[in-house]
Amino acid sequence: MTLGSALLRLIALAALFGFLFGFDEGIIAGALPFISTTFTVTPASEGLMTAAVPLGAVLGVVLAAVYSDRLGRRRVLMLCALVFVAGSILSGAADGMEMLTLSRLLLGIAIGASSMAAPMFLAELAPPAVRGAVVSAFQLMITVGILISYLVSLGLAPFEQWRVMLALGMVPAAVALVGILRSPESPRWLVLRGRDDEARATIAKLEPTRSPVDIEHLVKEIRANIAHTPDAARWGAFLAPRVLPVVVFAMVLFFLQQLSGINAVIYYAPKIMSEAGLPGVHAQLFATVGIGTLNVAMTIVAMMVVDRMGRRPLLIGGFVGAAASLAFIAYTFATPENDSIIALAGLVAYIAFFAVSLGPLPWLYMSELFPIRLKTRGMALAACANWAMNFLVVFLFPVVLAGAGAAVTFGIFAAFCAFGVVFAYLMAPETKGVSLEEIERTLEAPVG
Ligand code: GLC
Repeated sequence: MTLGSALLRLIALAALFGFLFGFDEGIIAGALPFISTTFTVTPASEGLMTAAVPLGAVLGVVLAAVYSDRLGRRRVLMLCALVFVAGSILSGAADGMEMLTLSRLLLGIAIGASSMAAPMFLAELAPPAVRGAVVSAFQLMITVGILISYLVSLGLAPFEQWRVMLALGMVPAAVALVGILRSPESPRWLVLRGRDDEARATIAKLEPTRSPVDIEHLVKEIRANIAHTPDAARWGAFLAPRVLPVVVFAMVLFFLQQLSGINAVIYYAPKIMSEAGLPGVHAQLFATVGIGTLNVAMTIVAMMVVDRMGRRPLLIGGFVGAAASLAFIAYTFATPENDSIIALAGLVAYIAFFAVSLGPLPWLYMSELFPIRLKTRGMALAACANWAMNFLVVFLFPVVLAGAGAAVTFGIFAAFCAFGVVFAYLMAPETKGVSLEEIERTLEAPVG
């Protein structure tokens, strides 16, 4: 199916928010070695400053869940873009660790809010036939944003310009702001607000091939779906016997995704390299770019195989591979006579297994498993689980690393992945080739 140019522009715009998510998350890895030459940094202040992003993101998810219905998706994303611009400028201009931490908290709020609002906006705008690919594009752009942030760090490292690294985030943020100012609101939200005429006009612009009768039909369908929505207002709906296991599955899967230590690697890659004995900030940043490239490449592989192999074997295999690679890394740290290349090989294997499986699969399951009526809140619960655990891991990592050493730290990550193997084996459903309606029918409990 061909997509109209107005729709393509919107998809590119929403994917830009994925890029900002990845960029602002990843840029701290390259900036950290230089920040510690400007300010006095302790393991706790370093952990808090780095973890300010996921902490802010928990708040951002909650705000987006509340305000995307009240203000509309477009206005929420507009605010996100503004905060992205402000946070980037402030973090580049920070005069101490406190201001840096506060500005990273602001960026975190924008990242968390857009991690909910952008996929929601995308899912509501995309025609059903391409919705899966469109939503995955958002995920892919997160890894691309991380990679570009690593490349920027590498390019600017010779000048030790951590302020420029952090402030550069305002460029894509400003582009996103201009884009969202010129974009229409989600037709679904317009119907929710009784603004059916505007919704019709927007659909006609986004999908020029639809006939007026077809558009009328779609608007009616949206209205019928909304008529179901009162159930979503009750949190008790999540306790229904057939819904609760889905909530628990999605939340625990996100806990395990984070407890596999991915963001310890994403946020602190050069630090881990130096811990492994790789000498020199530049060599460390270079290896970090390699990690970021592999992350993008294996996410593309995941998108290609997930509908063929199925979710279950991919998830179980990913946990097995991640557990083995992390145990290998722990072992190499425990035997310091090993060459740094050996620990790096373990890190490469871990990233490959993560990106092809543990990275995208929780997000995919999250978008597939929640019944339509509970989707917004279900997504908010799962995304909160993700960010809260992300916060804990990123905050505690430097502290545990300094206290217990790298071998123990990676041993802990390995143990969580080993638990993940059992968890996935016992709990992971297979949704390959099953329509969302069928998935929902198997969940059709007397909701509410
Ligand atoms: C997943 C994780 C996110 C992580 C990213 C790395 O999207 O949820 O926390 O930073 O993968 O690629």
